[in-house]
Amino acid sequence: MKVMVTGGAGFIGSNLVRYLLNNTAMDIVIVDSLTYAGNLESISDCLKSDRVSFNHVDISDKIAVDFLFTSTNFVGVFHLAAESHVDRSIVDSSPFYNTNVIGTLNLLDNVVKHNTPRFVHVSTDEVYGSLTTGEAPFTETNLLLPSSPYAASKAASDLLVRSYVVTHGADCVITRCSNNYGPYQFPEKLIPLMILNAFEGRELPVYGDGQQVRDWIHVEDHCAGLLAAFSLGKAGEVYNLGGITELQNMEVVRSIVTLTGASDELITRVTDRKGHDRRYAMDISKATTQLNWRPIVGFAVGLKNTVDWYSANKEWTNHVRTGEYKLFYEKNYNAKFKE
Ligand code: NAD
Ligand code: DAU
Repeated sequence: MKVMVTGGAGFIGSNLVRYLLNNTAMDIVIVDSLTYAGNLESISDCLKSDRVSFNHVDISDKIAVDFLFTSTNFVGVFHLAAESHVDRSIVDSSPFYNTNVIGTLNLLDNVVKHNTPRFVHVSTDEVYGSLTTGEAPFTETNLLLPSSPYAASKAASDLLVRSYVVTHGADCVITRCSNNYGPYQFPEKLIPLMILNAFEGRELPVYGDGQQVRDWIHVEDHCAGLLAAFSLGKAGEVYNLGGITELQNMEVVRSIVTLTGASDELITRVTDRKGHDRRYAMDISKATTQLNWRPIVGFAVGLKNTVDWYSANKEWTNHVRTGEYKLFYEKNYNAKFKE
């Protein structure tokens, strides 16, 4: 039972690799090009297992990806590799199209060529665009109305996946999840950025009025949803996953201030993000009924555990802050991860 996990050195991917190791008998073949967001220190424990192998490969590399599919008979693919940060897509969107669109296309071509039984395409609630206060949460039949170049690249990849199901009969499911938080998240995203800045007594930069709403889900709940979609999802279907925890950004930041014991005065209102979506909210009834899945980690407990994790894992956070994490691959490339 070998599965490919693309993006396995990223935030959700690293948590998924650990989740699959602990909760299934699957062997895991990680494919990751180690961009700034890829961090092998996040999976250094998992890499010691004989069930895990790592391939330093870009998903848009036709020869390398074809070689992986030719040399291994995968029972499925969890596709998480992506450029994932909205702010970066506003500055330069081209890497988002190379990876999120061209990279996904390359994987899909290989899934068809090699008759791979299952492809779980990990997408996002951002493809639906923005809700106003009081509007019903997104369902899987909502129009795709992405606002940012990141969200548009994910919507494009969702449509490619759908086309490969219809045209080639590929066995793909699409999951669309809301905002994740938890261990090993790169501190460019709201929650880890605020936690680390609060620890260090730095400013906590809140965009605009801070009243934008996100639906927060603990990353372990997301991983459980991905495994449920892999096991029970029907080809061609889309499943919304979410935490049913809508909070304004300012509420999240204030909770972090309280949990870290930082001063309120660190909270600083800064210029708003361009094209900033106001609210995301997910209707997850399809996943609860068809995948027998629901989120179980409450936000208060999950956030406290996350703050505690960042406090207890100073080596990981220091290496990310200094950039030392980028040296892990070079240092270990010729040594065996398993030692
Ligand atoms: P991340 O940025 O933390 O990690 C992305 C990983 O993909 C990194 O390890 C990076 O090295 C790798 N990668 C990037 N380009 C690559 C390429 N061309 N070839 C191979 N590997 C490449 O992202 P994340 O937050 O873990 O998100 C994972 C997936 O989940 C993404 O598809 C994202 O769109 C989706 N998602 C994220 C969230 C969230 O809240 N973070 C919510 C819903 C969906
Ligand atoms: O909704 C799912 C999406 O969640 C994923 O598809 C994306 O990959 C992931 O990055 C995330 O996107 P967001 O843009 O919602 O996450 P981010 O952490 O960047 O921002 C969360 C909110 O906090 C958003 O309203 C912007 C705001 N924000 C963010 C940062 C980094 C701030 O106010 N200050 C900040 O410094």
